[in-house]
Amino acid sequence: MPLGSFPNTRLRRNRRDAWTRALTAENVLAPSNLIWPIFICEGENRRVPVDTMPGQIRVSVDLVAEHVAEAVALGIPAVALFPYTPAEQRDPEGTRALDENNLICSAARALKAAHPTLGVIGDVALDTYTDHGHDGVLRDGYVHNEDTVAILCEMAVTMAKAGVDVIAPSDMMDGRIGAIRAALDAQGLIHTKIMSYAAKYASGFYSPFRDAVGSLGQLIGDKKTYQMDPANSDEALREVALDIQEGADMVMVKPGLPYLDIVHRVRTTFGVPTYAYQVSGEYSMIMAAVERGWLDHDRAMMEALMAFKRAGCNGILTYFAVKAARLLKNG
Ligand code: PBG
Repeated sequence: MPLGSFPNTRLRRNRRDAWTRALTAENVLAPSNLIWPIFICEGENRRVPVDTMPGQIRVSVDLVAEHVAEAVALGIPAVALFPYTPAEQRDPEGTRALDENNLICSAARALKAAHPTLGVIGDVALDTYTDHGHDGVLRDGYVHNEDTVAILCEMAVTMAKAGVDVIAPSDMMDGRIGAIRAALDAQGLIHTKIMSYAAKYASGFYSPFRDAVGSLGQLIGDKKTYQMDPANSDEALREVALDIQEGADMVMVKPGLPYLDIVHRVRTTFGVPTYAYQVSGEYSMIMAAVERGWLDHDRAMMEALMAFKRAGCNGILTYFAVKAARLLKNG
């Protein structure tokens, strides 16, 4: 890199005008980079606000197509679906995950019928269906790896058959990507993609999400025996390497902003399609500060999203997706 020196080199020269700032921008954020996570609930004609996530709601299946219509019009390529499961419908094995008429499968069918060009991403893990709130099944109090993977494979096939385009395992069991790939292929579902939550950390930033899906009061203990230790970075590369080897089409880092160093290492090391999840807590932190008048909503949102692009993300799962896409479109 040629080095210049002051006064011949004045880095402020290119920053002086809006048009040179535009010409010299190293990264661009577009609606096509955004994935919108949405929550589905039982019932009809329901729009239930999520108290811990101002501006986000749970919608019933009959309203889901209408709910995403603006996102589709704005050019958002995909949505990620999560079910709200009330306590009385949960059990230790997360049985409802395998029901072809559960909320996710029903919402996927409704979405593919109304918006055939919209990508539908389905989360594969049991925590939104279990009464103990863990992502897998417990054997002697421990989340059992192989028993869980067997259920997740069935869950993935059920979802894919309902129209889910991208299976997104968020459970962090060992070997699940390879097992799910094999299970999908055995059913001829060779076009179903896998976006692996490859480096997912045991984070305190998921609390509003657990409220949104009805898991908050459910979880016994924590998820540290399967989700990663926030102290670790080399281990994230091992996780990602394994998932790519096992057949992941896209890899994800989660949470987002506090883990951009991981995003950057993953993207530069592997060069595969790389995503980050700006999780519920990150969304709610910004929204809480905005409500207090401490941050400007649009500036905080756009700066955070651009930071993901700069770090190397191809796309971002974000609850801001629609608000950001509106701003990108209308200025
Ligand atoms: C389920 C899952 C979680 C999130 C996405 N999928 C919660 C968890 O692992 O406890 C969190 C998303 C968010 O906080 O926005 N395994």
